[in-house]
Amino acid sequence: MISPDLAADLPVEHDVQVLGIETSCDETGVAVFDADRGLLAHSLYSQVPVHARYGGVVPELASRDHIRKLLPLIDGTLAEAGVTGAELDGVAYTAGPGLIGALLVGGTLAEGLAMGWGIPAVAVHHMEAHLLAAMLEDPVPEFPFVALLVSGGHTMLVDVKGPGEYQVMGQTLDDAAGEAFDKTAKLLDLPYPGGPALAELATQGQAHFKFPRPMLKKPGLDFSFSGLKTAVMLQVRELEAGASLSESKRADIAKSFEEAVVDTLVAKSARAIRQTGYTGLVVAGGVGANLSLRSQLRTELGKLDAQVYYPRLEFCTDNGAMVAHAGLLRLQAGYVSTGGVVARPRWELSELQAMVSD
Ligand code: KG4
Ligand code: ZN
Repeated sequence: MISPDLAADLPVEHDVQVLGIETSCDETGVAVFDADRGLLAHSLYSQVPVHARYGGVVPELASRDHIRKLLPLIDGTLAEAGVTGAELDGVAYTAGPGLIGALLVGGTLAEGLAMGWGIPAVAVHHMEAHLLAAMLEDPVPEFPFVALLVSGGHTMLVDVKGPGEYQVMGQTLDDAAGEAFDKTAKLLDLPYPGGPALAELATQGQAHFKFPRPMLKKPGLDFSFSGLKTAVMLQVRELEAGASLSESKRADIAKSFEEAVVDTLVAKSARAIRQTGYTGLVVAGGVGANLSLRSQLRTELGKLDAQVYYPRLEFCTDNGAMVAHAGLLRLQAGYVSTGGVVARPRWELSELQAMVSD
């Protein structure tokens, strides 16, 4: 499994370079990260065209497509970075949470390559990689901070005391924020992937519909989005009775929905900042690419003198750079994977151990 006591034998005579592989869902991401020089190269292959006609991710097709794309992507990324496999110091791969077949493709190849090159492999937690992705930017957020993790599978506020020291302060009791975006997009007949399509439609609408801001009046930091989704569904049905939904009404619904989600995420993030007294909020995960969320967070948290940190837009959604970066930190803290491929479809963030580097 994953062990901190088998200290990775990292070289001191040259820069430490790690290959990162992300295959947990529907993006094949590869990157090379250098401890001193930062990101040397990264490539992403999106499976959107593969899944689009099914309206969502088909796990078996995802696995097969990762098999097709991963090796050529690794070859190309290494060439772009000007690094050969033999010059690398480790191979990091997303070991979970995610789709089991997709994880196994990335994990098996990563472990095989590491064995062939005679270097360590390291299993990376996908949400930890998202959470630390803002550290790839300038300015780098300082610990401790609050992280708002908003992806297709997770919505949580995390007290990040240090690398690997994560305490979940609140999370969704049902749907994740990204999932709510995707389901509402489907309801509005928008193409997969729903989140970006809905956000795009929302730019043409007005927030005329007053949808609930779930759990805002209750104390605490948990979220719930299934009631909001139902409210949107009932509204759409009411409008559709006897007539098809006009373009402007669809845009208004998209805008009203987006505003309800954003208001809720912003209010709870502000509450988490007040509760901890921290001065930094790091936003991570695919929904972090939402421009309305980004601007509202900046405004509202600015009022609390807190700074908001985001990864660049392309590193909000799944990518190899965040895996290479998190893998490097884990390797430097002595974590290597032993005993074969690690693939954990379910893996709680709180199970991770603090990274203590010497
Ligand atoms: O982090 P991510 O790429 O994959 C997971 O680990 O889940 O997040 C994907 C989620 C999807 O639900 C997608 O619809 C949502 O992020 N998303 C967005 C936007 N871009 C991606 N949601 C709202 N607005 C966006 N601009
Ligand atoms: Zn993700």
